[in-house]
Amino acid sequence: MQTLIINIEELLQVRTCSVEKVSGSEMAHLPTLKNAFLLIENDLIASYGVMQDCPKINADKTIDADGKIVLPSWCDSHTHIVYVGNREQEFVDRINGLTYEEIANRGGGILNSAKQLNDASEEEIYNQSEKRLQEIIKQGTGAVEIKSGYGLTVEGELKMLRVIKKLAKNYPITIKATFLGAHAFPKQFKENHNGYIDLIINEMLPKIAAENLAHYIDAFCETGYFSVEETERIMEAGIRYGLRSKIHVNQFTAINGIAACVKHNALTVDHLEIVTDEDIMALKKSETMPVALPSCSYFISIPYTPARKMIDAGLPLALASDFNPGTSPSGNMNFVLATACIKMKMTPEEAINAATINGAYAMGISETHGSITVGKKANLIITKPLHSYYELPYSFGSNLIEQIILDGKILA
Ligand code: NIG
Ligand code: FE
Repeated sequence: MQTLIINIEELLQVRTCSVEKVSGSEMAHLPTLKNAFLLIENDLIASYGVMQDCPKINADKTIDADGKIVLPSWCDSHTHIVYVGNREQEFVDRINGLTYEEIANRGGGILNSAKQLNDASEEEIYNQSEKRLQEIIKQGTGAVEIKSGYGLTVEGELKMLRVIKKLAKNYPITIKATFLGAHAFPKQFKENHNGYIDLIINEMLPKIAAENLAHYIDAFCETGYFSVEETERIMEAGIRYGLRSKIHVNQFTAINGIAACVKHNALTVDHLEIVTDEDIMALKKSETMPVALPSCSYFISIPYTPARKMIDAGLPLALASDFNPGTSPSGNMNFVLATACIKMKMTPEEAINAATINGAYAMGISETHGSITVGKKANLIITKPLHSYYELPYSFGSNLIEQIILDGKILA
C-alpha cells in the first residue's frame, strides 16, 4: 500500500535517524523542506524530498497538499486520560478562591478521582476514556503516554492499566503505559506511608509485571505527597522490574527531587514549574528529559516552567498536555504549543521540536516517532492551507488540521 503526498508547501522536522532529541540552542532550528513530496509505504515513511525528485509512480492514493504544511504528529508524553467523571466543582471552587492544595486537603483532588474510578466498572472506564483518546487523535496526537494513578488500590490500578492496554490494542495511535500507584496516599494510609509503598512494591508491581501492563513507573514527588526518599524507593523497585521512571516533580516546591531522579537515570522529570539552579545543574549532565506542562500552569494558575532559562542553559525540553480531570482537562497539543510560545517565550521552532522529537524521546520512542525520517512511523498531520507554520501557535484557538495519517492510514 503506497500513499504519495505531493506539492507540500513545507514539510517540517525532516531529520536523519541519528537525532534522538535536541537540546539548548539546537532547539531553535527546525529543519524543513519547501515544495516537497512524501511517500508512505504501508505504515512507514518510505522517502521524501523536493518535488523535482518526486518518483513517477502509480501510488494507491495521492494527496495534493498544495499550500499545506505536513509535520509529524504530536508526541504527548504525559497524560492521565483514563479517568471517570470530572472535577468541574473543584474548578468553580478555585474560581471562588480555594487553591489546589486546599481542595486536596478537603479530600478533593486526586482522591476525588480515585473514588469515582473505584466505583466504576472497567467497561465504564474504557467507554469514558475512549472518547478522550478519539478527541486527541483528531487534534493531531499520534503517540501518547497514559498513566494510571486514580486507582490507588491493587484492583483500581490494575483496572486502569488494563483499560490502557485495551485502548492500545483497539486504536492506531501509539500508546505507552505508566504505572502511577504513587500518585497520592489513600486516606487509610495517611499516617502509614510505608504501608502504602509496601503495597505498591510487593503487590501492585509484581501483578503489573506479570500481565505486562506498564512500560514506565511514576511517582508524585512533592511536599505533602511522596518525599524524595519515598520516590527513590519507588524508582528502585521500578528498576527491578525493568521500568524506567518518569517522575512528577517540582510542581509546587523544589525539594531536591530532580537530582534523585537523575541519580536513578529517570527518562523524564515532569512539571518543573519551580526550578532552582541546582536542578538545572543536575539535569545538565544527564540523559533525563525535562518535560513542561503549560496547560496545567494555565488551568490552575501556577507559574510556568522557566523554559528560557533551561534552554539557554543548554538543556533539552519536551512539551506535553498533562490531560487530566484536575489540573489540565485538555489534551489539545496545539494549545500547548501556543501557550509555550506565548507564556514561556519559546519560539515556534523550539515548541515544535519540544512537542515532536523531544516528546518522542520522553516516551522512549524517538527511534520510530517524532520526525520525518525514512523508516519511521507514518504518523502525520496535514494542515489546512497556511501562510507559515507560525500560524499553528499564532491562531491558538483555531483547528488548523485538515487530515490525520496514523500507521500510514488516512483517518476519516
Ligand atoms: O500532573 N500533579 C500530580 N498529578 C496531576 C494532577 C492530578 C489531579 O489533580 O488529578 C498533574 O497535575
Ligand atoms: Fe500529570
